[in-house]
Amino acid sequence: MEKAKKVWMDGRLVNWKDANVHILTHTLHYGFGVFEGTRCYKCVDGPAIFRLEDHLRRLYNSAHILTLELPFSFERMIEASKEIVRANNYQECYLRHIAYIGDGEMGLGTMTNPTRMAIAVWKWGAYLGADGLKRGIRLKTSSYTRLPVQSFPAKAKAIGNYVNSILAKREALKAGYDEALMLDTAGYVSEASGENVFLVSGNTIITPPESSSILNGITRKSVIELARDLGYRVKEEIFPRDTLYIADEVFLTGTAAEVTPVREVDNRKIGKGIAGPVTLEIQSEFFNIVLGKNPEYKKWLTYVYPKKGGRKK
Ligand SMILES: Cc1ncc(COP(=O)(O)O)c(C=O)c1O
Repeated sequence: MEKAKKVWMDGRLVNWKDANVHILTHTLHYGFGVFEGTRCYKCVDGPAIFRLEDHLRRLYNSAHILTLELPFSFERMIEASKEIVRANNYQECYLRHIAYIGDGEMGLGTMTNPTRMAIAVWKWGAYLGADGLKRGIRLKTSSYTRLPVQSFPAKAKAIGNYVNSILAKREALKAGYDEALMLDTAGYVSEASGENVFLVSGNTIITPPESSSILNGITRKSVIELARDLGYRVKEEIFPRDTLYIADEVFLTGTAAEVTPVREVDNRKIGKGIAGPVTLEIQSEFFNIVLGKNPEYKKWLTYVYPKKGGRKK
């Protein structure tokens, strides 16, 4: 990872090498904290963060679900997000917001430790590989079940939830696949370790509903809106994994993975075993949007530098 110059920590810009925490940081021990992943793209008219307000709303909602009170206001974090990109002089990068319980007391029930916030940025290319983005990836159903909603809040992007995702991801990688497909406790398709799942069948696009044990992906929401605007019928409903096997196309969405085609699930070719035309159309439109080339969707961009035609906040 290329080291950025600065990291935003608790309201201050600090040098990359000084962005450290104490070993008794509470969240480091118990995973109780929340985070966000957001991308800043080099748009045709300057760098802009994609759906920053939606990401920050999810961060505050995640904290609310965990009963964590965040020490900085929503508006302050909007400004801080732009500030950290500017401070590093980046045109494009990934932003990682994190809110965590700092050091002080130990034990599960401590209520007195400070809640701390940070934003780190780094350059991040195609999460599932440039080739995967172009040609499609191979997915394997995990032996790990997605966290049951009665035990873990799937709507919170909570740090501890990711033990489940990482177990699945490591298992898939060790078995020679690119990504893990996770089923819910009833055996229906939930999501991938860090992405939402879509299938294409004719002119219809289907993805599991928000009410299932999935993270409310912001790319998912964007793709649903975009696909409808492109004339596709989009349904949010549960389906078993064999529905994926016989789909015309399958693709994943996520901030890191963007819109990644899936060419194979559990050793079964999907469609022709290549990235399908609907997926590639949506991917291409998605990239036009994030790069500021589609005026209809400028509402989703927060420009890092105030500029004519861009959003002021
Ligand atoms: C478990 C999980 N599902 C789905 C997603 C996709 O969400 P988004 O599109 O908001 O990045 C992510 C990534 O944040 C994730 O970690």
